Amino acid sequence: MSGPRDGERETAAETVTPTSANLARAATILEAGGLVAVPTETVYGLAADATNGRAVAGIYAAKGRPSFNPLICHVSDLEMAESIAVFTPLARRLADAFWPGPLTLVLPKSATCPVSELATAGLSTIAVRMPKHPATTEIIARLRRPIAAPSANPSEQLSPTSAAHVAAALGLRIDLIVDGGVCPAGIESSIVAVMEDGCTLLRPGALARADIEAITGPLKAPDPESGVVAPGMMRRHYAPSARLRTNATSVGSGEAFLGFGAPPAGVEAAMNLSARGDLAEAAANLFSMLRLLDETVGAIAVAPIPETGLGEGINDRLARASASPPKVRV
Ligand code: TXA
Ligand code: MG
Repeated sequence: MSGPRDGERETAAETVTPTSANLARAATILEAGGLVAVPTETVYGLAADATNGRAVAGIYAAKGRPSFNPLICHVSDLEMAESIAVFTPLARRLADAFWPGPLTLVLPKSATCPVSELATAGLSTIAVRMPKHPATTEIIARLRRPIAAPSANPSEQLSPTSAAHVAAALGLRIDLIVDGGVCPAGIESSIVAVMEDGCTLLRPGALARADIEAITGPLKAPDPESGVVAPGMMRRHYAPSARLRTNATSVGSGEAFLGFGAPPAGVEAAMNLSARGDLAEAAANLFSMLRLLDETVGAIAVAPIPETGLGEGINDRLARASASPPKVRV
């Protein structure tokens, strides 16, 4: 038998339940520069101490992530958030309304921000979020520092919504997996840049646009020419290996139909994101159903999803997953 592959360990990371002792153990591993997969309400994150450049480098290596792509820093309280980012009154109102929860704010970095330059990819801004999962909040509070945590999947693959997904893809590359159950939201946080000249929705996600706009007013679209963008919003992303066809109203030969609501006449759905047409349920099922179908079929046809509420985030993920692979990988 051959030995472990590059960057892989001899033994797989242990998956542990979120007992107080195990959360203390997770914090100790992070303190020592290790990598711990942690549950959040959106997807599982791959965490390192955000202030430790070597530890953050370990995240990029484990994921195979292009190093220009900055990471979200997760905090356990507002004081920690304000130590790394500059909050305008509007940013503060957003945090008050939606934290802890699935909203990431991109803000100017504070002058004394201790977060590693590698985590922010050298930008003058920083992405901050207070996740809503008691296990992860306790780990961060014990560490007393923010954790940098991208979704805990190999770069460009589907985000994990269970501890088992993380173990299968990254078990040999990380130190510990904290099992906090299945992620209730199922797609990543919405990302909003709050700048002097207005707010931009950098990534639609688990918090609906209308909820954010109730506080910010109309959100701008990212503008690669002049404004702020999320470097990670590469066109192909969240990709299964199977070919994916969106807005499908019929099923072709060799395709499995992934439904939403009642399937079209004559079409049998292999799986249904939400038989009752509920977008929150569809978001929660999206990545796990794509994974299951990906394991069994070579082509997936997905029913149309309305572009309202959480549908915007779901359609964004589907569009990226169905984009043809880039000719040159960057
Ligand atoms: O729900 C989530 O947000 C999950 C959980 C684990 O919290 N995290 C997540 O992280 O989705 P990740 O790394 O997969 O996506 C972070 C996105 C990337 O597209 C990145 O380019 C963008 O955030 N980003 C990070 N810092 C930024 C910054 N300073 N300016 C603009 N975009 C930024
Ligand atoms: Mg990701």
